[in-house]
Amino acid sequence: MNSDKVYNRIKYLIIFTLVTFLVYFQPLEHKPSHIRVLNNSLYTEVVDDEQENELLRRELSVTGITESQRRLNVEKGEEVINLTKVILFWTSRLDQPDWSRGVGTKQFQHCPYPNCEYTTEKDRLDDADMLLFYCEELPNFPDRRHPRQLYVHVTKEAPPNVKINGYGMYDNAINVTASYRKDGTLWFPYFVIRPKENPEDRYVVRTSYTNRSRSVAWLVSNCNTDSKREMYINELNKSITIDVYGACGNMSCDDEEYKNIDACFKMFEKTYRFYLAFENNICKDYYTEKLANPFRHEIVPIVFGGADYEHDFPEHSLINVIDFPNPEDLAQYLNTMTEVEYDEYLQWKAKYRVGVKLNHCTLCEFLHDSAYTRGEEILPPSYGGSYSKWWNDSCHNDLIYELKEKGGW
Ligand SMILES: *[C@@H]1O[C@H](CO)[C@@H](O)[C@H](O)[C@H]1NC(C)=O
Ligand SMILES: *[C@@H]1O[C@H](CO)[C@@H](O)[C@H](O)[C@H]1NC(C)=O
Ligand SMILES: *[C@@H]1O[C@H](CO)[C@@H](O)[C@H](O)[C@H]1NC(C)=O
Ligand SMILES: *[C@@H]1O[C@H](CO)[C@@H](O)[C@H](O)[C@H]1NC(C)=O
Ligand SMILES: *[C@@H]1O[C@H](CO)[C@@H](O)[C@H](O)[C@H]1NC(C)=O
Ligand SMILES: *[C@@H]1O[C@H](CO)[C@@H](O)[C@H](O)[C@H]1NC(C)=O
Ligand SMILES: *[C@@H]1O[C@H](CO)[C@@H](O)[C@H](O)[C@H]1NC(C)=O
Repeated sequence: MNSDKVYNRIKYLIIFTLVTFLVYFQPLEHKPSHIRVLNNSLYTEVVDDEQENELLRRELSVTGITESQRRLNVEKGEEVINLTKVILFWTSRLDQPDWSRGVGTKQFQHCPYPNCEYTTEKDRLDDADMLLFYCEELPNFPDRRHPRQLYVHVTKEAPPNVKINGYGMYDNAINVTASYRKDGTLWFPYFVIRPKENPEDRYVVRTSYTNRSRSVAWLVSNCNTDSKREMYINELNKSITIDVYGACGNMSCDDEEYKNIDACFKMFEKTYRFYLAFENNICKDYYTEKLANPFRHEIVPIVFGGADYEHDFPEHSLINVIDFPNPEDLAQYLNTMTEVEYDEYLQWKAKYRVGVKLNHCTLCEFLHDSAYTRGEEILPPSYGGSYSKWWNDSCHNDLIYELKEKGGW
């Protein structure tokens, strides 16, 4: 046998082994249990439950809802508060029956009102005080309902991302809305800004404006959105350099895409001055982790969205595209910013931090101390009208065309 043949056999053996290995292990390799990169018209962005749960744990370690707060509530009415309320996940969320939250009473232990239980067991329907329905799932309502049982519609997605026939099926069925809408029953924001427990006079910038070698970063997975943010970015790109990370660009901040968003931002905050926090939909009150990520790090966000940015966030903490006549002017502003001006955009960090609202505690509180426990009838804000209309008519995705026309670009 000549050496070429031996070489070829070894080569094929190696390739065969490699292919076998990949075929068998690819599903495992590409589906870490805590990450979901969904390629589906309904879920257009990355949903990372582990990141969410981690933030929850961090929040608790800071706020640490205390025993005294709990005792205070217990004093308000021991018997009522001691009664464990049952919260039943009626639909699943992203194929998870427990919405990745876990079942039992442990989750509520730290809450001001701790006596609640999460369950997925449908045969406990008659015991359930509250049924949770997740936005995209077809409701498939139960065939019976006791008079004090609450139906809660939970939504994280913006209306155009939810393709179930408007929300018509929920119109006359739900009692409570739980979403990022502030004018709903319960407000479940993606994140909130809280005053710092130990405020400082001045925030000391870790990496100065001049020490950052690049200008604008954008990490993105959805390249064609309802808000048409990409139109603005294309135009902005003519006057300033934008580095695009993720599925829509050629830059990569991590070997495994989206494995660790935090790792990307740790690099961004040392390298870039600005981050594009452009929402995929322009809807009332809709702001997401796209803004939380830069806020949690040392980088100035540029926003495009439907939130009331001026009121919802600290003064001088972000740059809003609608404050500029056109993308060229915005680019000019960014390109000519001084180090002192840049520092000012980070000063809010001396007094505030990013926190998460403990939404599960809000549910439990509602069941123990609210209009509901006072015996009132609970109806959604849209009651008497149409819930689907209330929900659906809250977006303004024509904004981009209006900006374009007004700015003449
Ligand atoms: C994602 O979906 C789009 C549209 O359905 C399709 O063209 C694309 O190949 C999909 N990508 C992956 C990675 O599955
Ligand atoms: C309610 O719980 C408190 C402590 O959590 C306990 O001391 C009290 O006896 C309980 N009351 C009732 C009526 O079960
Ligand atoms: C929802 O609102 C959009 C405009 O934002 C409109 O184009 C669409 O027809 C509405 N859908 C329903 C079901 O009302
Ligand atoms: C900026 O870079 C210089 C030179 O590398 C370094 O000495 C300085 O500490 C850095 N300062 C900030 C605030 O980034
Ligand atoms: C910006 O423009 C360059 C060409 O000048 C192009 O290669 C790049 O893809 C553009 N980036 C964006 C985000 O549009
Ligand atoms: C991405 O594309 C831009 C413009 O085409 C180029 O300058 C840059 O080097 C590319 N980056 C990588 C990591 O390929
Ligand atoms: C919940 O909503 C339904 C449907 O509108 C209503 O009939 C019921 O009285 C409400 N339940 C409570 C406890 O208010």
